[in-house]
Amino acid sequence: MKLSKRLKAICDLVPEGSNIIDIGTDHGYVPIYLNLVKNCKCLATDISLKSLEKAKNNSERIKTNISFCLTDGLNNIKLDNQILIISGMGTTTILKILDMSLNNDLIISTNNDVLTLKEKLLLKGYYIYKEVLVEEHKKYKIIYFKKHSN
Ligand SMILES: C[S@@+](CC[C@H](N)C(=O)[O-])C[C@H]1O[C@@H](n2cnc3c(N)ncnc32)[C@H](O)[C@@H]1O
Repeated sequence: MKLSKRLKAICDLVPEGSNIIDIGTDHGYVPIYLNLVKNCKCLATDISLKSLEKAKNNSERIKTNISFCLTDGLNNIKLDNQILIISGMGTTTILKILDMSLNNDLIISTNNDVLTLKEKLLLKGYYIYKEVLVEEHKKYKIIYFKKHSN
């Protein structure tokens, strides 16, 4: 399965066999790839029914084993040790989704205002574990954040 440079760079940061939630999955390519190629346990979520149906159709067509949830951000999702992936949204939406007490690893690629994203997450006790720059139409930073242990 061929991913765009940006989505491939996101998937490359995910360790093999991880438990992930792709928030705002749309087409579902990230969880589909991670399930198929990196043997990850995946939950794909979206606020849009149309997007989630698209992801389900792609998942069925490519024969992957992933779960789906129609929800706004992390509402009604039980958090455990999953890595949360959020990409293709603006910083304001991303920070709204993450506005709760969290300890999960985060892999984030914002469409705008990377500085505010970093500042706010550092204030929440996160640090930048890895950061990758990808050029695809424009430049995207893909950042893997981890939480400082208390
Ligand atoms: C531009 S697409 C990005 C798709 C994919 N993550 C990517 O990076 O290519 C943004 C997706 O986020 C979804 N979305 C926007 N706000 C959301 C929210 N609060 N909770 C869940 N999904 C959301 C939209 O419905 C849309 O499918």
